[in-house]
Amino acid sequence: MNIVPDRNTPVPQLIVQWVYTGIGLTLSTGATVGFIALFELLILLLRPDIVDKVNRVRIVPTEELPCQYDFVIIGGGSAEAVLDNRLTENTNWTILLLEAGGDEPIISAVPALSYGLLNTGLDWQFKSEPSSTYCKGMVNNQCPMYTGKVLGGTSSINTLLYVRGNRRDYDNWRDAGNPGWGYDDVLPYFEKAENMTIPGLRESPYHGTSGPLTVENPSYKHPIK
Ligand SMILES: *[C@@H]1O[C@H](CO)[C@@H](O)[C@H](O)[C@H]1NC(C)=O
Ligand SMILES: *[C@@H]1O[C@H](CO)[C@@H](O)[C@H](O)[C@H]1NC(C)=O
Repeated sequence: MNIVPDRNTPVPQLIVQWVYTGIGLTLSTGATVGFIALFELLILLLRPDIVDKVNRVRIVPTEELPCQYDFVIIGGGSAEAVLDNRLTENTNWTILLLEAGGDEPIISAVPALSYGLLNTGLDWQFKSEPSSTYCKGMVNNQCPMYTGKVLGGTSSINTLLYVRGNRRDYDNWRDAGNPGWGYDDVLPYFEKAENMTIPGLRESPYHGTSGPLTVENPSYKHPIK
């Protein structure tokens, strides 16, 4: 591969040429780290909108934080982001959102690189219980349950699944002495938060289409599936 640039090549074309050379080199040496670093560089150069420097999380000294809040949200995943956004519509309320992990890395923006984020510090690395009836092809019959330990939660490591609890879970909560937490009570709020985009489910009485939480099928289907 030709790494030495031609003197007459215009600069933008040169950058592209180097980038392709870089991809080629990293791929041929199998250097995943180099490949990811290259991707980060590409995003920095070509998609500063994704990097969104201005709105990145800032470190605020603990002394500067208020001593009390009207609401404390535990977890910084997609659902909590919707909740936080809704509560902050009332500017008189103070909300503390707690997340165990840090800010999302830039490569979060590339779903295909998801595997580079799994089983790292950004993942709680939970495993299912050993079982004799499922995950039988896995070590110790345990499947990985990827769960994001990062701002944006599991959506930031691109393994998010939209799954609601079972009707009986909520009804059990209500029956245990929590009026307002039964399935029929919470369903309208699930619907209000949801933007279901899957044809055939948009008309369902169990789904909403005008909320901030967009639900869709994965856009990439592997031919083997
Ligand atoms: C916020 O507080 C101000 C002053 O007490 C009050 O006038 C205003 O209505 C409140 N806003 C909301 C959304 O409650
Ligand atoms: C719902 O998702 C679709 C597809 O991504 C988008 O075009 C639409 O604006 C979303 N609606 C809302 C209310 O966010």
